[in-house]
Amino acid sequence: MADDNHPRRLSRDMRSALIAGVKKATTSPSGLLGGILGTGRKKAPSFEDLPGFEAIRLQQSLAGKIGIPVPFYRLHEAKAGTDTVIDGQPCTNFTSYDYLGLNAHPRIVAAVSEAAAQWGTSVSASRLTSGERAVHRQFEGEIASLYGQEDALLFVSGHATNVTTIGTMMGEGDLIIHDSLAHNSIVVGAQLSGAHRVNFPHNDIEALDRLLGQLRGQFRHCLIVTEGLFSMDGDGPDLARLVEVKSRHSAWLMVDEAHSLGVLGKTGRGLFEHAGVDPHEVDIWMGTLSKTLVSCGGYIAGPRSLIDFLKYRAPGMVYSVGLPATATVAALTALDLMLSESERVASLQANGGRFLAKAKSAGLDVGESWGLAVTPVVLGDSLQTVMLSERLLERGYATVPVLPPGVPEKAARIRFFISAGHAAEQIDGVIDTLVAERMQLSRSGVTLASIAKNTILQRLQALEDEE
Ligand SMILES: Cc1ncc(COP(=O)(O)O)c(C=O)c1O
Repeated sequence: MADDNHPRRLSRDMRSALIAGVKKATTSPSGLLGGILGTGRKKAPSFEDLPGFEAIRLQQSLAGKIGIPVPFYRLHEAKAGTDTVIDGQPCTNFTSYDYLGLNAHPRIVAAVSEAAAQWGTSVSASRLTSGERAVHRQFEGEIASLYGQEDALLFVSGHATNVTTIGTMMGEGDLIIHDSLAHNSIVVGAQLSGAHRVNFPHNDIEALDRLLGQLRGQFRHCLIVTEGLFSMDGDGPDLARLVEVKSRHSAWLMVDEAHSLGVLGKTGRGLFEHAGVDPHEVDIWMGTLSKTLVSCGGYIAGPRSLIDFLKYRAPGMVYSVGLPATATVAALTALDLMLSESERVASLQANGGRFLAKAKSAGLDVGESWGLAVTPVVLGDSLQTVMLSERLLERGYATVPVLPPGVPEKAARIRFFISAGHAAEQIDGVIDTLVAERMQLSRSGVTLASIAKNTILQRLQALEDEE
């Protein structure tokens, strides 16, 4: 209220209220001036309130209760390869993507040392500014010719390659349609793009065709994304049919070769070689340097117009440092070894086939695996899967348990990554051990459901006792 005699002045009541308000603000720790003067700070929310944090703690405490170590972020005391050391114990390793046994190959080590001496360990800037080096262009040339494409582009991470490529080239009004088991980097890229995102049932090209029939007309551009070899299931798509479908619907096809380079085809060139399809029929080839090529980074191979677009528009390229010369040279040398020593590819394929045949004859559920670099043994119960993986470790075999939400509910599994370097006894040994340990575990009757039920019953009992 204003003062009646002096309409532009505040009334006595208003002045008192204002003074009281200012006093409160200056004295309360979270008040206006308190905040400005730094006499008291508003407490920031705890990171423990982040969505999903509770679930992580729950898993950790459950593992503690059952007395098994959390099987993730395990410390390996040796280089990635067919053998490793965990907690001082040497063991056979089925957890690495070094499919052709090239990690620390003397030629790669020598090339990397030379590159480090010549170029240092960083190019210290985005390639757009001052990070461009001859090895980048040389390697991109090799990748482009591998896929019969006009050009290629290197990125500093495989994950970022998918995110930034898909996220930049697609947008509102476009359609992205990907396999339901597509890697997280494909999904995140699609979400980032703002395009309409749909998935088709795993490797079901007829369903893809039907979906395209219903949806394609409503969108400007359409991108189909799939993988050459799926890392959770060890199977892959029918490339010839995919090419036929994508052409009929006037869509782009992108294939992620993370797990297929060095693995599929007689010389390891990947899905197109395996399927006998001209690689030029695929619009975008994507791959990572972190698996067969024993380095770090990713690539896109495709038409020059796409590469030019990404070079100037993809944030993961423009605003990120160029790949170090050391990582580039490591991958370049590994690619040369892959192409010149195709007996490595043959050994990997023989080992993968041996694993699959033995697992099948032992009655294990290996899904639709093609029996190459990756074969899962689907066990169902999450707890039994973790316990079995732990028992395998105790018996000298390192493996990876994969649990929901990484895979569908009740489809927990142990994933086996096979390498050209594995010996036949190591492959036979791990399956024999798995079968024996699994039988013992099943007899014990311990499952996630039984533990959860017991925990709930104990909790109810404790509540009753309190009353
Ligand atoms: C299919 C697929 N694409 C992309 C990536 C990401 O590659 P990177 O780990 O090299 O970043 C992975 C990683 O495992 C993958 O499996």
